[in-house]
Order: sequence, then structure tokens, then C-alpha cells
Amino acid sequence: MRLTLKRPDDWHLHLRDGAAMAAVVGHSAAQFARAIIMPNLKPALATTAAALDYRRRILAALPADTAFEPLMTLYLTDNTSAAEIHAARESAQVHAVKLYPAGATTNADAGVSAIENTYPALEAMQALGLPLLVHAEVTDPQVDIFDREAVFIERILAPLTQRLPALKIVLEHITTRQGVEFVSASADNIAGTLTAHHLLLNRNALFAGGLRPHHYCLPVLKREQHRQALLEAATSGSAKFFLGTDSAPHPRSAKESACGCAGLYTAHAAMELYAEAFEQAGALDKLEAFASFHGADFYGLPRNQGEIVLEKSAWQVPDTYPLAGEELVPMRAGETLSWKLRTPAHAD
Ligand code: NCD
Ligand code: ZN
Repeated sequence: MRLTLKRPDDWHLHLRDGAAMAAVVGHSAAQFARAIIMPNLKPALATTAAALDYRRRILAALPADTAFEPLMTLYLTDNTSAAEIHAARESAQVHAVKLYPAGATTNADAGVSAIENTYPALEAMQALGLPLLVHAEVTDPQVDIFDREAVFIERILAPLTQRLPALKIVLEHITTRQGVEFVSASADNIAGTLTAHHLLLNRNALFAGGLRPHHYCLPVLKREQHRQALLEAATSGSAKFFLGTDSAPHPRSAKESACGCAGLYTAHAAMELYAEAFEQAGALDKLEAFASFHGADFYGLPRNQGEIVLEKSAWQVPDTYPLAGEELVPMRAGETLSWKLRTPAHAD
């Protein structure tokens, strides 16, 4: 069996920097035409100038004969000015601004400590049509980790959409039924991304036969009923939901640790993993719009030309990939996948 799709895009990707970026970027370039690149480097990419420098480094690290367009983002802080937002828009290379609640996840220390501090930036974004990408988890240690997304929606996101009703918002890596319901019930300027791993795994995967650090990510995997809600959203055909892998490379030593880092690496087999999830749901016919149309339409970018082919053909995922002198353990390491991406990336 073969599936031919218009070239897809990844609307949420971590590429890191330097040698680590050079090690992983080829995987995404082989799968996707474009990707929204997360700004949670150290230091955080809080200015347009820093985002544009990073873009140049990504382009320089691309393997020969790949065509891949990094779509840059700014890291929102308590001090992001309206002028910085205008500069971002004028650059034409910065396509969104990322809100990390301070301390919520990897390299989120410089994130937002109180949403009120960001109103000048958010008002400018609303006026300019620049989307806000949200890591939707409260950091309140009183709140159970499995409830942090639902509580963020209630305490922060719902009031924000009342205050700034025309602001374009993407609820990133939705993990709960409440997240799906919030996006579904909102106006068209509110959308959401879904990862392959949250479509395929529930929280049992964290503890299958022992502690599984390579299945730890943020927001953390949830109960099966939530996975079902995500799968329904992804395969519903609704233009509000689109593909964002959240592929987040960490060296093996940082994952297999007494205090392991959050993040799954899925860029090596992104479309294969999504195809598996859609096939399980009996909805392979919905994969193309989810992967290749809805995101571009939301961001106001043209849909891609050119095609990819996915073939039903078993292959074994390597145990590790090299990562700047260390090892990277990918999702499904050493296991067999049933779909294979056949068409190499090529220019439009
Ligand atoms: C991401 C990372 O490692 O940068 N980790 C993750 O678990 N998803 C950060 C993030 O998106 O939360
Ligand atoms: Zn992420």
C-alpha cells in the first residue's frame, strides 16, 4: 500500500544549535518542507536579531540537496516590547511568538512569570496577526502534574481569549480532552498542534515493565481517554488541528539520569508515526489535510508544492543516532515500524 501526500510541514520542532542541530536537522528536512522552530535555546531567542542569526545557522547546517525552510519564532518574556513584535513582523522570517510559563519545561527559566506583563506584546501581536504559541501548563507546584494543562486553560488561556479575542493562538502539543474541547469550542483564530507520541502513547508507556525515561516529555503523557480525544481531534478533519511533532533531542545521558530531561525524539520517523496513528483510527484519508494543509492555512502561508510517498514497508529503527559526540535514543529505538517514507525531500 502506498499513500501520496502533498509535502507536509512540522508546526512545532526543537532543533537545538551547533553540532547537535547539525546532527538532527537532516531528519526533519527529509520529512518536511518547513518547520516552526522553537526558540528555547540557551540563552533564549528573545529578539528578532537573535532569531534571524539562528535561522542562518540552521540553513548553513542543512545537508546538501535538501530544501527546508525554518520558520522562526521569538521567545516571549516579561519584557518583550511592542517594538520587538513589530520588528519580528517586519522581518517576514519570524512567524510566531512562544509563551513558556517560567520554569514549565526545558530552558523555560526566562519565560513569562505573569501573563499581565506580556499584554503590550500580545496587543501588538493581535493587531499584526502574529500567532501566540502556548506551552499550556501551570507551574504551580500545588497543581497535580496531570492536571496542569486543564488548569492553565481555565486560569490563563480562557481569560486571555476574552481579553484579546482576535489574537491568533496555537495551543501547542495538546494532551488532554479539555485541550481538545477548548480549541474546538473557540473561534477560528484558536488552533492546536498534536504530536505523534501523544497520539500513540498513554501514560502507561512511562512505566511499562519499569521506568521508561525515553517516554518522558512535557506535557507528560496522559490517560487513555485523553489519547482517544486527541486521536479523534486529529482525524476529525477539523482545520483547527494540525501536525506539530515537538521532536526534542536530548543526549542519552540527560534522559537516563536521576533527574532526566523531558522530550521525545520523533523527527527520524515523524510521518511514519503519524501514519501509524491515523491507520489505527481507520482515518488515513484524513492524514494529508492534518499534515500538509491546516497548518499552512492557519499561518497564512501557501500550501506546499511537491509530494511525499509513504509506503507500507517494515523497517527497523536504529538503537541510537549520533548527537554531537553523544547518543540520541529515538522513539521506537530498535523496533520495527510498518510505514516508510519513500520520497526523498526535493525542491518545490
Ligand atoms: C521540550 C524540549 O526538550 O525542548 N521538551 C518536551 O518535553 N517537549 C520543551 C517543550 O516543548 O516543552
Ligand atoms: Zn516543544
